[in-house]
Amino acid sequence: MQSQFHVLITLLATSVVGILSAAVNAPPANIDFYKLYDNPEAHIGIRDRRTTRERISAHGYPAEHHHIVTEDGYIVGVFRIPYSHKLQNQNEYRPIVLIQHGLTSCSDAWILNGPNDGLPYLLADAGFDVWLGNGRGNTYSRNHTSRSTEHPYFWRFSWHEIGYYDIAAMIDYALEINGQGQKSIHYVGHSQGTTVFFTLMSLRPEYNEKIKTAHMFAPIAIMTNMENKLVRKVGPYLGHQNSYSLLFSDQEIVPYNNILLSMFSNLCEPDQMLRPVCENALGRLYSNGRVNMSAMPEGMATHPSGCSANQMLHYLQEQQSGHFRQYDHGPKKNLEIYKSEQPPDYPVENISSELHLWYSDNDNMAAVEDVWALAERLPNRELHRMEDPMWDHGDFALNMEVRKYLNEPVIEIMKKFEEANKEM
Ligand SMILES: *[C@@H]1O[C@H](CO)[C@@H](O)[C@H](O)[C@H]1NC(C)=O
Ligand SMILES: *[C@@H]1O[C@H](CO)[C@@H](O)[C@H](O)[C@H]1NC(C)=O
Ligand SMILES: *[C@@H]1O[C@H](CO)[C@@H](O)[C@H](O)[C@H]1NC(C)=O
Repeated sequence: MQSQFHVLITLLATSVVGILSAAVNAPPANIDFYKLYDNPEAHIGIRDRRTTRERISAHGYPAEHHHIVTEDGYIVGVFRIPYSHKLQNQNEYRPIVLIQHGLTSCSDAWILNGPNDGLPYLLADAGFDVWLGNGRGNTYSRNHTSRSTEHPYFWRFSWHEIGYYDIAAMIDYALEINGQGQKSIHYVGHSQGTTVFFTLMSLRPEYNEKIKTAHMFAPIAIMTNMENKLVRKVGPYLGHQNSYSLLFSDQEIVPYNNILLSMFSNLCEPDQMLRPVCENALGRLYSNGRVNMSAMPEGMATHPSGCSANQMLHYLQEQQSGHFRQYDHGPKKNLEIYKSEQPPDYPVENISSELHLWYSDNDNMAAVEDVWALAERLPNRELHRMEDPMWDHGDFALNMEVRKYLNEPVIEIMKKFEEANKEM
């Protein structure tokens, strides 16, 4: 579900929150939307209350919900399918896999396709110990040891911190809780789930030793050739440090709620200005049976899942600068933090782990040229170009043939690695 549709909804949400806070001339909104919309008396509900754990359990699989505290005090919610009830392999060696979602998404995205096609289920049935991460700020990770979500400081993070702190904490935690003395894991990320991996592995290279194989679906780092029209349109305004981007920064981007959805459908009415944008977004998503429509209701019930505006801003900065580099706070603050007026590039040359880049021709977020430009700088990578020329950003999650063309080949690579490097 990490599609153009989400980017659109998220950007709409950003502008609405921004416009509202500008209108009342208040500091950027620090309203707790969960409290506001989670009133059981009201007609609108924040979301279907079933968690990833309950959705997995409903299919008969064992499922766990863990709360992991990061070095900087955030508490992230992570789900686990520890073994397969079909294999009854709870006492056998089960290699760890960590799976990380994209922007405005969450762990639910991976299980939408159900046990026959969804990657976490297939991995569990192939004998793996499966972990589903949630980055700080999304539905499952709105918690902190001391900071309230109503304080703007809570939202002062981008995907940089998700990689640097959250993913690092998840890897260490999974290695410990698994209890089989494993020293390294397999990793899968989609979209932002790849960006956070590149961030962590380039800045904390010691974590590369904890990776067996890593699979990047629609890798996003360099964004020079990205074709997403909306991003290209707002980039020039919000992709730089200025009064617009300051107004938007450090706040929560609204998670799923019916007001937003109805606003979205209103904006898409035939006589509305944004109609062409909507048609483009929805048209792609629902086009000629490529996408699993049966998974749509669950997708809608769980997405978008909320994030910090700074994650969007950081991406817009990358798109504008052509660099894969740290957050731009403006020259003065950059000098304080980075000791240079420009933010430093992520040293992706230092990512030594075995990387598999899964990319496609029709991805309007991860352009082929950008994937190649990144690949040139990665010392240990293999490129996997999707055969289908129509394969797009959302297909990595919801294509009808995702099992055959993506999930099975990925699992095959992991199994081969395990065969060749038996830890026990
Ligand atoms: C589509 O999603 C439904 C609902 O989760 C699932 O039952 C079905 O197996 C999926 N089909 C494919 C081809 O992914
Ligand atoms: C936040 O984390 C604390 C400590 O783990 C826990 O007691 C509390 O219930 C959590 N709050 C929410 C809203 O998840
Ligand atoms: C990346 O590797 C180079 C060469 O080994 C080293 O000089 C540099 O400090 C490394 N960067 C980081 C962030 O570790």
